[in-house]
Amino acid sequence: MNTNNNILIFFSLGNNSPTKRRTCRKISSFQLYLLFLLLLLFNNSIIGSLALIEGGDKEGGFSSTKGEGSVETPSVENLLQTYRNSSLHARQLASPNGDDIQYTSPWTWVCLESICKRQLARNTVAKVPQNVCWLNCGRFGALWPFPTIKALLGHETIPLYPQNVEVTAIHSPHKAVTAMLGYAGNVLLDSLFRMHPKSEGQSAFPLTSNGRGIERNRMSITLTTESDETKMSLNSDESYSLSVTSAIIGSSVKVQVQIYGATFFGVRHGLESLGQLLAFDEENECLQIVAEAEIEDRPAFKYRGVMVDTSRNFIPILNLKKVVDAMSYNKLNVLHLHLTDSNSFPFYSKRIPYMTTYGAYSASQIYTPKDLKDLILYARLRGVKIIPELDLPAHVGNKKIQNTNWGPLMGLGELAVCVNAEPWRQYCGQPPCGTLNVINNYTYLVMGELYKDMLEVFDNDLFHMGGDEVFFPCWSSRQDMRDWLKNRGTNDYMDLWGYFQGRAFDKLIEANGGKYITPIVWTSDMTNRARHFLHPSDYIIQIWTGATQYEVRELLENKYKVIFSNLDSLYLDHGFGTWLGLDHFWTIKTWQNLYDNDLIKIAEHHLGANSTYYAITTGQILGAEVTLWSEKVDQHNMEMKLWPRSAAFAERMWSSPQNRTITVDARLAHHTNRMKNRGIHTDRLQPESCYQISGYCHDSNSRL
Ligand SMILES: *[C@@H]1O[C@H](CO)[C@@H](O)[C@H](O)[C@H]1NC(C)=O
Ligand SMILES: *[C@@H]1O[C@H](CO)[C@@H](O)[C@H](O)[C@H]1NC(C)=O
Ligand SMILES: *[C@@H]1O[C@H](CO)[C@@H](O)[C@H](O)[C@H]1NC(C)=O
Ligand SMILES: *[C@@H]1O[C@H](CO)[C@@H](O)[C@H](O)[C@H]1NC(C)=O
Repeated sequence: MNTNNNILIFFSLGNNSPTKRRTCRKISSFQLYLLFLLLLLFNNSIIGSLALIEGGDKEGGFSSTKGEGSVETPSVENLLQTYRNSSLHARQLASPNGDDIQYTSPWTWVCLESICKRQLARNTVAKVPQNVCWLNCGRFGALWPFPTIKALLGHETIPLYPQNVEVTAIHSPHKAVTAMLGYAGNVLLDSLFRMHPKSEGQSAFPLTSNGRGIERNRMSITLTTESDETKMSLNSDESYSLSVTSAIIGSSVKVQVQIYGATFFGVRHGLESLGQLLAFDEENECLQIVAEAEIEDRPAFKYRGVMVDTSRNFIPILNLKKVVDAMSYNKLNVLHLHLTDSNSFPFYSKRIPYMTTYGAYSASQIYTPKDLKDLILYARLRGVKIIPELDLPAHVGNKKIQNTNWGPLMGLGELAVCVNAEPWRQYCGQPPCGTLNVINNYTYLVMGELYKDMLEVFDNDLFHMGGDEVFFPCWSSRQDMRDWLKNRGTNDYMDLWGYFQGRAFDKLIEANGGKYITPIVWTSDMTNRARHFLHPSDYIIQIWTGATQYEVRELLENKYKVIFSNLDSLYLDHGFGTWLGLDHFWTIKTWQNLYDNDLIKIAEHHLGANSTYYAITTGQILGAEVTLWSEKVDQHNMEMKLWPRSAAFAERMWSSPQNRTITVDARLAHHTNRMKNRGIHTDRLQPESCYQISGYCHDSNSRL
C-alpha cells in the first residue's frame, strides 16, 4: 500500500496547478517516465494504484497545492449550475423554488427484440413514449390476447384527437344489431377520451396543437356484420377482421378503419382490438394510432369464462359491471354467477319471495330482476354472456329458513334437511350445512318456480345446475330417506341423488317452456361413478378436480362436453390463507400457472394426440373458466384477485399459444398497465422499474 502513497506524492509534487483535471493533462514526459518505472516496480498492484489515484482525486489529495495557483476551485454550486446549463434534461426540471417543476422525461422507448426498452433520448423532440412504442413493437404490438390468424402492424403511427374519431357507417341486416353496434362503437369512443390521464369524465385533450396540425387528422370507422344474432350462444361465431389504412390528404391524415364481424360479438372484439391499436401519447398530449394494420382473428376456444361467487359474500352489481368491463378488455365471454349457496340467497325470486326474505344478507344485498337485466344487457353489449347457477341439491339451507320454518308453515313440509347440522364435516363440504329434502314433492315445485324466475331473467342457452359436494350421511341420518330407499329396493344413496337429478332436469326443461336448455353440472361422485344419470348429449360437465385425475379421462372418453376449471391451475381464491383451517395446503395460482394451463396438453395426457385433435375440433372441449369463490372475497379485493391473472388465462383461451416466451411477461405488464389506466384495480405483477426497463426482470433459470 505504500506504493500507492508514493505515486500520490509524486503527483502532488509534480505540478503547481490546483485543479485536478489540469494536473492530469499537464504531466510531462519525464513524469510519465517516472510513473512508468514505478508501475513496473509494483506492477502487481497497478490496478489498485490507478484506483487510488482516482480515490485521492475525490478525497482532495492535492491539498498541499491548494491556494498556490491562479485558478480558483469552483464551488459546488457553480459546478451544478454548469451542469444545469449543459444538460438538456436537468434544465427542464430546473425551477427556482422547486414547487412548479415542469418534468420532461429524458427517456425514449425503442422496440428491441419485440420488447419496448428504455433509452436516454438524444433529443427531446423525437421522443417515443412507452405507450406509443408498444403499439407496433413485435409481431403483436399491444394486442392482448394476440390474434390467431393474422396480425400485420405498420411501423408508423398517426397522431389524433379523440374528438376527430367517428363511427361513420354501420352495416347490419337488423335494426337491433345496428343499435348494438352503435352502442359498442360509443363504448370505444368514450374510452378514447378517458385515455388522457387528466380526464375525469371530460375530455382533457387540447383542441389545437401548437401549429403541428394534429387537430386536422381524422379517423372514421365502419362496422359491418351480416348476422342478425343479438344474443350470444355457444355456437356464436366471434371471428372478426380489422383493417386500418391512412392517407395523406392535403396537410392532414385520414385514417380509415373497417371492422367486419361474423356476428355483433365479432365486431365488438374488433373494436376492442382497435382500442389496443391506439394509445395516449404523453409527449404530444394526443392519441396515436397504428397507421396501417391488418388483423384476422378468432378464438381458439368458444367458452372463456370467469366465475364469481355472489353467495358467500355479496358482490354489488356495480362491481360485477367492472368485472364485465375487464372481461371485455380480454375478450372473455362468459360470466358465471354462483348465485346462491347455503350462505345466502341474494337472487330476488318473485314466485318464491320467501327464499329472498329469509335468504338475503340484507336489503342492500339483493339482486332484483331489474338489476340483473341491466347487468345482462350491459354485459351483452360488451360481448359477455351471463350464466346463473342454482347449486342443488347440496349447498342450500339457511339458518333463518330453519328458524322460521317457512316450508312447514306454508304447508310445504321441510324443503331442506341437515340445515346447520353439526358436526358439519359429516354433513357438508363447509358450514353452514344444508341439503334439499329430495323426497318432498314440494321441493320440486319450489325448484320449478325458481328455475322459471331465473330463466326469465337470464334468458340464454346455458344454465348451471351445480350438483357438487352431496354428502350422503346427511340423507342417511334420516328415517324417511332410509325408508324411501328401502321401498325402492336399494341402499345406494346415489340412486336417490340420481332420482333427484332426473326430476330437476325435467323441472328445468318444463320451466323453459318445454324447450331444451343445456345444463352444466360440476364434477362430483355422480360424474365419477354414476354417469348413467347424466347423458352426454344432455349435459356439459365443468371439471373442478385436478387436470390429471383419472375421471377427466373417463369424461373425455365418454364424449361429455367439458369446461375446465381444474383447481390445480384455475382457482383464483387459493393461496390467501385459511378461513376454516381447510385450505392451508392450497398454493396461490400465479399468472404463469394460468397461462400454462394448456387444455390441449391436458387432453393429450389423457387421450393421446389423435383423440385430442378430435375432441378439440368437434368442440367437445368447450373451453375453461377461472373461479373466484368468495369465502374471503368481496367487492373491495375482488379485482385484485381476478386481474391480471385472468388476463393471462384469457390469452391461453383465445390464442392457445404454444409457449410462454419472455415477450409474454413484457406484453402482459403493458396490458396490465392499460387495464389499470382504464380503472381496473389489478394486482401488481412486478415493480414499475421492470415495466419501464422491460425485459430485464426475468430469471432465465425459471423459464419453461
Ligand atoms: C448558466 O446560465 C445562466 C443563464 O443562462 C447564466 O447566467 C450563468 O452564468 C450560467 N452559468 C454557468 C456556470 O455557465
Ligand atoms: C310425488 O311426485 C311423484 C312424481 O310426480 C309421484 O309419483 C308421487 O306420487 C308424489 N308423491 C306424493 C306423496 O304426492
Ligand atoms: C392418428 O391419426 C393419423 C392421421 O389421421 C393416423 O395415420 C394414425 O394412425 C392415427 N394414430 C392413432 C394411434 O390412432
Ligand atoms: C415455441 O416452442 C417451440 C418448440 O418448443 C419452438 O419451436 C418455437 O419457436 C417456440 N415459439 C416461440 C414463439 O418462441
